[in-house]
Amino acid sequence: MGRPLFLYVFLFYWHFLNALFTVEAPQSLCIVERGNNVTMECTFPVNGKLEFRDLSVSWDKKDELKQVYVLRKGEEDLKNQHNDFKGRIKLLKENLNLGQSVLQITDVKLRDAGIYRCVVAYGGADYKTIHLKVKAPYRIINQGVESTGHNEWKLTCQSEGYPAAEVIWQNRNYEDLTYKANTKFETANDQLYRVTSTLTIKSGIDDIFYCIFWNKELQENTTAILHLADSTEGILQTKSRRFVGATLIATAFVGSVLLFLLCIRKARANKGNRTPVASPSIAKLAKDKDTHNCRDAFFEDRELKYMQIEKT
Ligand SMILES: *[C@@H]1O[C@H](CO)[C@@H](O)[C@H](O)[C@H]1NC(C)=O
Ligand SMILES: *[C@@H]1O[C@H](CO)[C@@H](O)[C@H](O)[C@H]1NC(C)=O
Repeated sequence: MGRPLFLYVFLFYWHFLNALFTVEAPQSLCIVERGNNVTMECTFPVNGKLEFRDLSVSWDKKDELKQVYVLRKGEEDLKNQHNDFKGRIKLLKENLNLGQSVLQITDVKLRDAGIYRCVVAYGGADYKTIHLKVKAPYRIINQGVESTGHNEWKLTCQSEGYPAAEVIWQNRNYEDLTYKANTKFETANDQLYRVTSTLTIKSGIDDIFYCIFWNKELQENTTAILHLADSTEGILQTKSRRFVGATLIATAFVGSVLLFLLCIRKARANKGNRTPVASPSIAKLAKDKDTHNCRDAFFEDRELKYMQIEKT
């Protein structure tokens, strides 16, 4: 008779105690650009001063069963840390006192993408998961314009990024020419896609075309403008470039003189009437951009969009 009752009481309290100890993940989705640093955060309850010796914290990559970081009874234990993470992981110790298990990954790779699990044991134990997505924007588009004679042109756009992008072609009037293009995908290093798209088209000289790399998943577009005139004879081109260069230098010179005069006039007018410049806040902004904290409002905005996309 006494035993089941004891068990019942024990289970009741055990459940009760465990219910009190909950780990939360303020941001369960993080999107970071390859090469940047990212911090992921879980919170846990700390009443009063943290007893370091009673605290165990671990982070692992759940989808691949890779150990990322372990703190056992207040002692760091990196013996079984997976090679993928060697030298790139830091747990921000000072945050533990605030009940925050903050993991920093530096120089994020595409292969870091996945589901991370943070476990905290401090009296009770609990865990949460965080989804990390890594992107590589199609920032630089290499372009080629080649005349194949008879008013026919071969236009090429090439770029590298992740995830795979669609390439859309348009003419001067933004009419879609994608159906005439040929796009191929190759894998470059570090899982990047090298996307090359070629459009062969009849057109007169002096026309322009657009190639747009559309990263559907991240809702990002990068556009290049191709000028057909650019590929006329080399000599003619350098000549006109030199002329343009000289004009630019002359304009810049006249411009600086004018600006200088304007500044002097303004400085006189503004004497004793200065407004302080908000440089500290700018410096702070720049600093904050170094590490992508997944609590960033900027990211929250994106993540919302992201989740909506994923749902549909
Ligand atoms: C990117 O370009 C495509 C094609 O022009 C367009 O349908 C899409 O809405 C654009 N997306 C963004 C985010 O600008
Ligand atoms: C990432 O963090 C490391 C070490 O804290 C720092 O040296 C590096 O400049 C950071 N990288 C970026 C892109 O902010």
